[in-house]
Amino acid sequence: MATLELHLADERATERLGTLLAQTLFGERAAIEAAGFTLALTGDLGAGKTALVRACLRALGERGPVKSPTFSLLEPYVVSSLNFYHFDFYRFADPEEFSAAGFRELFGPGNVCAVEWPERARGALPTPDLEVTLSVEDRGRRCLLEARTPLGAACLQRIRAGWLEPAAGSAGA
Ligand SMILES: Nc1ncnc2c1ncn2[C@@H]1O[C@H](COP(=O)(O)OP(=O)(O)OP(=O)(O)O)[C@@H](O)[C@H]1O
Ligand SMILES: [Mg+2]
Repeated sequence: MATLELHLADERATERLGTLLAQTLFGERAAIEAAGFTLALTGDLGAGKTALVRACLRALGERGPVKSPTFSLLEPYVVSSLNFYHFDFYRFADPEEFSAAGFRELFGPGNVCAVEWPERARGALPTPDLEVTLSVEDRGRRCLLEARTPLGAACLQRIRAGWLEPAAGSAGA
C-alpha cells in the first residue's frame, strides 16, 4: 500500500499537515459517513501526535480546548458534521480494556477515530485506514504516513497533492 514520508521542520509544519488532514477528511466525508475512518498515531512521548490531532480539529472548526486524552482515554468532538473521537491508550495495561470500555462500537460509519498509542490496544483495534509514525529528526520531526485500506490510500493521495502545493500562509491566504 501507498506511503508518504515527510520532514516536519517545526511546529508550523505539523499544523500544516493537520490542516491538510482536516481538508482530506472533509473531502472524504461521504466515504467516512459510509464506513468510518481510523487514524493510528504512533511515536514516543512528545513526538507530536496530539499536536497533529489538535491542528486537524482546529481546521475542522473546533473552537474549544483540545486536551490530550492521556487521562480521560477519550475526548469526543462533533466537527464539520463528523463525529471525531480522539483516543489515547497510553495507560492501557491490557488490550482487553478496549472492548470492556465499549470503545469498539465507536469504530464505524460516520465516525473518525484518531488513536494515540494504538499498540497498547493491539489485536482489539480494527485495522486503521492510515498509520502515522512520528519521530524526532534534527530539530523537527520525521513523519511516515502509511495507507492500510483503499480509503486510506485515497486520503494519502489528497495529502500528498496538498503538501506539494506552495504553502498558502506566506501568500497571506
Ligand atoms: N515538527 C515539529 N518540530 C518540532 N517540534 C514539534 C513539531 N511538532 C510538534 N512539536 C512539539 O512537540 C511536542 C509534541 O507534544 P504532543 O503532546 O503533541 O506529543 P504526543 O506525541 O502527543 O505525546 P504523548 O505520547 O505524551 O501523548 C509539542 O511541544 C510541540 O510543540
Ligand atoms: Mg499525546
